[in-house]
Amino acid sequence: MSSQDIPEENLPAEQDHAHGAVGVADEENPFADPGLPPHEHRIQDIDERAAKRSERAVALLFTVSMLATLGFIVSYVTIPHDRAIFVFPIGHISALNFALGLTLGVALFCIGAGAVHWARTLMSDVEVADERHPIEAPPEVRAKVHADFRQGAKESALGRRKLIRNTMLGALTLVPLSGVMLLRDLGPLPHSKLRHTLWAKGKLLVNMNTNQPLRPEDVQVGSLTFAKPEGLEETSEEFQTEIAKAALMIVRLQPGNIKDKRELDWSHEGIVAYSKICTHVGCPISLYEQQTHHVLCPCHQSTFDLSDGARVIFGPAGHALPQLRIGVNDEGYLQALGDFEEPVGPAFWERG
Ligand code: FES
Repeated sequence: MSSQDIPEENLPAEQDHAHGAVGVADEENPFADPGLPPHEHRIQDIDERAAKRSERAVALLFTVSMLATLGFIVSYVTIPHDRAIFVFPIGHISALNFALGLTLGVALFCIGAGAVHWARTLMSDVEVADERHPIEAPPEVRAKVHADFRQGAKESALGRRKLIRNTMLGALTLVPLSGVMLLRDLGPLPHSKLRHTLWAKGKLLVNMNTNQPLRPEDVQVGSLTFAKPEGLEETSEEFQTEIAKAALMIVRLQPGNIKDKRELDWSHEGIVAYSKICTHVGCPISLYEQQTHHVLCPCHQSTFDLSDGARVIFGPAGHALPQLRIGVNDEGYLQALGDFEEPVGPAFWERG
């Protein structure tokens, strides 16, 4: 039943502020404010028996909550902690935990449901509109601010004492330069350091685990080998700095499986060498899936396809992994044929 079906005399008196102000369109506000829609009385507002029913429903919910809380206490005291019961579809569980969870859940639910039902059916449902006030200060306040400002400028004699005014402006203009000079302390410019690694033409690929130079026959199909440049020792001071850029992963693919022509040209008998540093935020890549030739970065799951130029096929990385061009020297060892041709690791603002 809605308020439209109720005789006029049974409806409660309408409150003046209930519908808010209705605006009128004019030149400044071309869209009139329609105000709030007509207020719909609830059945409980016009029928005392319905209100009593709601009251009883709320009281019932609160009573069930009280009983459930008592049930919680009784369960805690009486049920042995090692008794198990079968509850479909969960299976066998502790009877004590089940009883405690059930009674506490019912107690809390009934308090919430009772409160919601009370608010929806019996508490006042008067609709209130709060008018917005203009943000702009009233004209008299603005006039006072202007007058105060002019008075202050006059008292400071800034207009009359030009020497003071000009030197002050000079001081205020120059003082930010101190901050600009301090930017130098952020450290030396990286220049081209971010673009270069220890790899260079003729540097042997050294196995990170055995510390021995790698031969093509050391790299088996399906294995993932990590390498560092010849001459970079773990005991050296700059090891961490350099390996963070030069770490390499080496995989042997069937040459027929390599889809990217440049990748094939830069490989040796299907052996490809890629930067181990993820191009997202620089985690070391460590997982290789032999069947798909995908490598996965464990940090945020960026996935690269090693059979297709290590392009990104999933995840947040923005660039393919840089490839190192490799070959074999006269003694049969794998060697680099130059440095990476692009910066390794995460993208930075100079990267093209
Ligand atoms: S660092 Fe590799 S996916 Fe984020």
